[in-house]
Amino acid sequence: MQAEIEQLENRFREELAGVDGERALEELRVRYLGRKGVLAGLFQALGKADPDQRPAMGKAIHAFKQVVEGGLAARKAELGARAEESLPAGFDPSLPGRRPLRGRRHVLSSVLEEIIDIFRGMGFSVAEGPEVETDYYNFQALNFPANHPSRDSQDTFYVDDEVLLRTHTSPVQVRYMESHPAPVRIVAPGRVYRNEAVDASHAAEFFQLEGLYVDEGVTMGDLKTTLRQFAREFFGPQAALRFRPHFFPFTEPSAEADVLCFGCGGEGCRICGGTGWIELLGAGMVHPNVFRAVGYDPERVTGFAFGIGIERMAMQRYGIEDIRLFLENDVRFLSQF
Ligand code: DAH
Repeated sequence: MQAEIEQLENRFREELAGVDGERALEELRVRYLGRKGVLAGLFQALGKADPDQRPAMGKAIHAFKQVVEGGLAARKAELGARAEESLPAGFDPSLPGRRPLRGRRHVLSSVLEEIIDIFRGMGFSVAEGPEVETDYYNFQALNFPANHPSRDSQDTFYVDDEVLLRTHTSPVQVRYMESHPAPVRIVAPGRVYRNEAVDASHAAEFFQLEGLYVDEGVTMGDLKTTLRQFAREFFGPQAALRFRPHFFPFTEPSAEADVLCFGCGGEGCRICGGTGWIELLGAGMVHPNVFRAVGYDPERVTGFAFGIGIERMAMQRYGIEDIRLFLENDVRFLSQF
């Protein structure tokens, strides 16, 4: 019996040391001193014990009870002092907390990062160029002659006759090839500008990702395989791409690629304007004049290039129907992604 009480006492001290608040302390009190508690149990056993053992047993139980009461009281005083010490006056710890606003990446940044990662996985590295560009890099070196009607589709904001806000990321192709010999395998992300009438699908500033792959023997087949692989990784294994002939001054042949509409799967709906397809990017085989402008020999190397609209990819992925939402900085919109 003595040994048992000693064990109980050790256990009690351990549990008392682990008590971290008023509530746990009260639970401990009930467990030891309550009507069905440990001590009540001991007193019951005392009543049934051998009469000549009772006095010693009773003494031991009373001593244990004092240890329990003393320990609980001391711990209670300690907890009270600690609580008073750490709480500023007037602070009510029972009120619910205020959650701090946590920042996050802009949806365009994360989509862009994801797209870059996919191309990194295919061996492309990242290059960049200036947003304030010259007429030469934005147009002339890309085979848009001065005063040529092909410039009409890309009106922009001019600093003066020679300097402008770039209308696409394609000038990075020229800058990169000027300073690096072939082979070249890069993607170039960045902001571009157009003099647009702004509406749900047109903004005066937006993001593109340019791609360029130049080496001996690069074909249109390589272009299609690369972009198909990209679409499968970004949209999922069921993604279907189709290529339509198109015109760009800096590629020949040129194409636009569409992805099967996420809204209707090809049957035609409001999102795809009834066509079943959504335009995603421009692409083509680099024009020999572009190679000549950067000092590459078009008889020796060939290459493909493409330009992807980042907003469009994000809109397609998340079913966003108005491009202006990306620029409004409305937290209710942005916190969804
Ligand atoms: N620069 C074109 C635009 O903004 C997109 C583009 C088309 C880029 C074809 C390319 C390309 O590299 O080969 O409309």
